[in-house]
Amino acid sequence: MIRHPLPWYRKGQLFLVHRLSSPVQRFFTRFPQWEYGLSRPEISQIECPHGPLVGKRAVHLSDLHLDRYQPRHDVALTCIAAMRPDWIFVTGDLLNVPDGLPHVFRFLSALRELAPVYLTLGNHDHFSGVPVHLFSEMADRHKIHLLMNQAVFVPAGSGELAIVGVDDPCLHRADLRCIPSKPDGRFTILLAHAPNVIDYLGEAHAVDLVLCGHSHGGQWRIPYIRPFWLPYGCHGRVSGLSHHKGFRLYVNRGLGWSILPIRWRCAPEIVVIDWIADRPRDNPHPA
Ligand SMILES: [Fe+2]
Repeated sequence: MIRHPLPWYRKGQLFLVHRLSSPVQRFFTRFPQWEYGLSRPEISQIECPHGPLVGKRAVHLSDLHLDRYQPRHDVALTCIAAMRPDWIFVTGDLLNVPDGLPHVFRFLSALRELAPVYLTLGNHDHFSGVPVHLFSEMADRHKIHLLMNQAVFVPAGSGELAIVGVDDPCLHRADLRCIPSKPDGRFTILLAHAPNVIDYLGEAHAVDLVLCGHSHGGQWRIPYIRPFWLPYGCHGRVSGLSHHKGFRLYVNRGLGWSILPIRWRCAPEIVVIDWIADRPRDNPHPA
């Protein structure tokens, strides 16, 4: 459990940013022709050496911010269909306003046609005004798995995949007690919206891969300069694969946009995860 509550000033700051950005977001959503840099997602690939799941594949999406369905969402669906995933993971920030609910579930149910879908919620989902029980009801109706501090176990290959989804760590709503112990053959994926979840993981947590979003990769990038915009909860983690305290963390740049409908030198991202054979350990006594 992220035990200490979010400080009131930080909660106020996050809420204020959402309240100020919502009308702007709502305004620009009406003009998809003003979007820039969002039309073509980049595909990233990571490999997980784990013999029992060899040949399995998952797709990771994040930060949809899908308040209105656009043609670019069909482009993303076409890309994902071509990958033929076994599972699809979405790590929060599904929408900004309640009006987005039918639009985002149109996209999610199309994903569900391709593979089982596992979701977590992000800070924008909580601030959107859509109650959590409505997200749950919609997810149930569309046969999508919304994981709120829960784990599910999927038999796969000759082993098992544990999919753990926690509520948003940047709002201190993640309860890490839902992470199960690890028997042989199991691969455990942790889905969380904000990358600061990694700061709360310890030796007791048997997690093989942590998937997050929240950063948008900075959304606007100037060459040779670190992103000047990163939301609270990133702690400097911008995008891509990194290692922390023995855990592997992937921060997805997301598919959508925040505040302005512009991604500058920071394309939307779809991540493909492939399970491969275990790499042979170095032989300490070569012939
Ligand atoms: Fe986001």
